[in-house]
Amino acid sequence: MDLPSNTTGAEPMLPNLDDPFAAAVVATRMPIIVTDPRLPDNPIVFVNDAVTKLTGYSREDLLGRNCRFLQGPGTNVNDITRLRDAIARRESIEIDLLNYRKDGSSFWNRLLVSPVFSKTGELTHFFASQFEVSPERNRVAELTRTQGELEVEIERRMHDVAASEARLHFILSGAKMGTWTLEIATKRLVSSVRCRAIFGRNPEDRFEPEDVLSSIHPEDRDCWEATLGKAIEDRSSFEIEYRIHTPTGERRWIDCRGEVSSDKGDVALTMVGVCQDITERKEAEEHRKLLARELAHRVKNTLATVKAVVVHSLKNSVDMKDALERVSGRIQAMSAAQDTLTNDSLTSADLRGVIEQVLEPFKTYDIRYDGPRLVLDERGVSALTLALFELATNSLKYGALSVEGGSVSISWEIVGEDRDRFIFHWSEMGGPKVKPRTRQGFGSTIIERVAAADMNGTARLLFEPAGVEFKLEAPIPMMNGDEASTAPGASEFRASRHRAEAPAAGRRRHPR
Ligand SMILES: Cc1cc2nc3c(=O)[nH]c(=O)nc-3n(C[C@H](O)[C@H](O)[C@H](O)COP(=O)(O)O)c2cc1C
Repeated sequence: MDLPSNTTGAEPMLPNLDDPFAAAVVATRMPIIVTDPRLPDNPIVFVNDAVTKLTGYSREDLLGRNCRFLQGPGTNVNDITRLRDAIARRESIEIDLLNYRKDGSSFWNRLLVSPVFSKTGELTHFFASQFEVSPERNRVAELTRTQGELEVEIERRMHDVAASEARLHFILSGAKMGTWTLEIATKRLVSSVRCRAIFGRNPEDRFEPEDVLSSIHPEDRDCWEATLGKAIEDRSSFEIEYRIHTPTGERRWIDCRGEVSSDKGDVALTMVGVCQDITERKEAEEHRKLLARELAHRVKNTLATVKAVVVHSLKNSVDMKDALERVSGRIQAMSAAQDTLTNDSLTSADLRGVIEQVLEPFKTYDIRYDGPRLVLDERGVSALTLALFELATNSLKYGALSVEGGSVSISWEIVGEDRDRFIFHWSEMGGPKVKPRTRQGFGSTIIERVAAADMNGTARLLFEPAGVEFKLEAPIPMMNGDEASTAPGASEFRASRHRAEAPAAGRRRHPR
């Protein structure tokens, strides 16, 4: 390092070595400097050997110079200002400065500078002790750096946690999931707002483990307790579906999943989990099962009816052609009944729709129908379908529809004090004179007995000379969720489409 020239003219202090204090200052391992502020630029007038050892400079290098030459590019300017100000105010100061040795290497110098006054109060010298604190400072610097890095890392992780929490929140709210935590020993339950809402509770409502238990359907409680008990015992996860009722009495299905965590001593501590309202899915599943059962039942019934139709049609037919016609006509009618049910609700159908469907092949004939809205169940649809088909076929072969000018009128009305029964009426007119029947065929059996039996009613087929009459009286079936088996005012709705389609008398086509 280049040294500024000694221009101060400072004379080195020569300590009196007979004075034990002066001798101690010379000999101590603590580096000691004395400057003379009365000389220009406050030069060094004394250094002990420890200073030369610490800095690498010789006594000649140091004497007569201001100490600032020990400073370098890394020395903090604010610290230098503080030091300068203290010296100017003649005050003591302790400060850590980065200094440089003669060989250019740096060291941390914990410097203590104090003014020295004469007995008369005149400032005569400054006394300074130096102490190398590089290891300590380096450790502090290292710790500061590590702390800085840690702070950056913590900030990064907190950001990650916040992002992950936001994602979790999004997923939970998207899946409409509630969350909960149960401290097993204290039975303290912490639940999210959504979790409480799933159980029909407001955020401020009490919601303790007992409230959960009392919400659970009695039939599901044992399974619930057993599942959770096993999870606690095995420190495992669990999933359970159960029914609850809310405080307002609403029934819901809940899917609950959780996991048990334990401490190092393997004591089960907490259970955390999520819950979801799965009522809609459960109801859809139940509905699907019900439909499958109904379908199986319907297929069985249909096959039994087909068997009866085939057997009886064959028995009563004169030849194969006749048999084929009877069988295919009746099966066609059954198929129409099936269509009506499929179009409607699978288990019920409107009587007007049934008539329209079954009499579709006869639509060019003068058949009129009129009556209020009336919903039949599956058995009623099937029975009436076959009966209508037989009536229409017989009419076409032997009755009113077999001649020009003949017509059929179909009507039905709702009767009874509770309006829980209906009367169905088929009436033929304008046909050939009716002869009393000599024997009861399968067609008549279907018309009278099957219709009556399947609909829990009474039926009569009358061979009046003016035309065949069929009267059925039966209870209106009560169907699940269908209070609208009948609808007031519907009687005003007449079968105008059919009436319009039916050709006017005299102009009517009459297929033979
Ligand atoms: C007795 C005494 C000892 C000093 N020792 C040192 C020292 O070891 N290292 C250092 O960087 N400055 C030391 N200084 C400080 C400088 O000499 C100087 O006062 C400081 O740099 C501020 O003044 P400036 O702005 O004129 O440089 C010492 C000052 C005095 C009075």
